[in-house]
Amino acid sequence: MKPTTTPRTYRVKSFGCQMNVYDGERMAEMLAERGIAPAPEGEEADLVVLNTCHIREKAAEKVYSDIGRLQKADGTKPLIAVAGCVAQAEGEEIMARAPAVSMVVGPQAYHRLPEMLDKAVQGERATDTDMPAIAKFAALPERKKIGPTAFLTVQEGCDKFCTYCVVPYTRGAEISRPYSDLVTEARKLVEAGAKEITLLGQNVSAWGGENDKGQHVGLAGLIRDLAEVDGLARIRYTTSHPADMDDALIAAHGEIDKLMPFLHLPVQAGSDRVLKAMNRSHTVESYLKLLEHFRTARPDIALSGDFIVGFPGETDAEFEETLKVVDAVGYAQAFSFKYSPRPGTPAATMDGQIAKEVMDERLQRLQAALNRDQHAFNAASVGKTCQVLVERKGKHPGQWLGKSPWLQSVWFEGDFAIGDLVEVELVEAGPNSLAGALRQMVALTV
Ligand code: 5AD
Ligand code: SF4
Repeated sequence: MKPTTTPRTYRVKSFGCQMNVYDGERMAEMLAERGIAPAPEGEEADLVVLNTCHIREKAAEKVYSDIGRLQKADGTKPLIAVAGCVAQAEGEEIMARAPAVSMVVGPQAYHRLPEMLDKAVQGERATDTDMPAIAKFAALPERKKIGPTAFLTVQEGCDKFCTYCVVPYTRGAEISRPYSDLVTEARKLVEAGAKEITLLGQNVSAWGGENDKGQHVGLAGLIRDLAEVDGLARIRYTTSHPADMDDALIAAHGEIDKLMPFLHLPVQAGSDRVLKAMNRSHTVESYLKLLEHFRTARPDIALSGDFIVGFPGETDAEFEETLKVVDAVGYAQAFSFKYSPRPGTPAATMDGQIAKEVMDERLQRLQAALNRDQHAFNAASVGKTCQVLVERKGKHPGQWLGKSPWLQSVWFEGDFAIGDLVEVELVEAGPNSLAGALRQMVALTV
């Protein structure tokens, strides 16, 4: 590649999960630290980071078409870095197929992006898909300038090896970030304006570490201590695996006011045979029992989940069992996907791959049931008064959008600022959001 000038502006485009959003923010912070400015909305950037997702369908093809479309007004291409899980899985191939890309950096190596950028400016292409466990976090700059809600990665990687899933290969083995680093980062986030922190991990409930007293604590212990951070009003966490939900976490939902009444606990399928073939380690019965425990600890807890339809070998009758789980749980919201074979995963070569039309039909039926339940959950919330954290302005003057404790989007009118915590009565429910009527501003005494 030809040497070029140091970029003045950057854009980070993150796809996929919340962990990628977090990583994207951290890469942006590193570039800002280097004196590179975010490109204004609608304007081209000198450096573009494509922070990719590999979890489902055609991720790699999308990266190539995105690269093809990147072009500056003078006909030249910006400097391009490919980051995220596609970079991890297909780094070499990207370098070979896309000469316009000068940097390929995996999810555990992005702290080296500035060094790679120095080389790229000299015309050198570089790939870094190493997986050093914890080095990345130590090398990142301090958090600053954050909105009212923030992500905090506490755990990365996954040892579960569900047979359909690429994550254990792209994100590597489970690692927990140290307790003290997390408390420090949470404090910084709050100082920078965050009122709500969502603790992130591919298998977040597997987080474990030593607290400041040298005791080994799990996620519940961490949440308990983060709840002591002055100025932090709300704590959430995602995503959990049923195998790692312990009694302390269940109890925490009944005891810690700042821990929001919301649980995202994917079941994936409603047939024990399919769950076994997925290597999920829970049964439908053990999953439902677990949810009962959470509901006992926190009766108003909103439940969320993930589902895959059309896993290899799934019969019509087995799919019907998934619908039965949906009926039994009454999810407040959920995500559902058609099975997508991921290269290198065991399920990709299993017998009984399901035809696309069958998957389409199953997904449609599942989503109809989930939408019905989401709307019902919202309708049942009407009449409740709850706190809403103001996250952004609405379309009309004086209109605002925030989230209820149950993670519902709530619209309301009044004279606020982003980051205010207000008390509203939920007065009208739609399928995806609710209208609220202002009751009072809540002074933050957290
Ligand atoms: N095909 C379809 N959905 C998948 N997921 C993970 N891997 C696949 C796949 N190969 C879904 C699971 C997981 C969510 C993040 O993505 O439901 O919980
Ligand atoms: Fe993938 Fe989640 Fe299973 Fe881990 S627990 S392998 S991230 S689906």
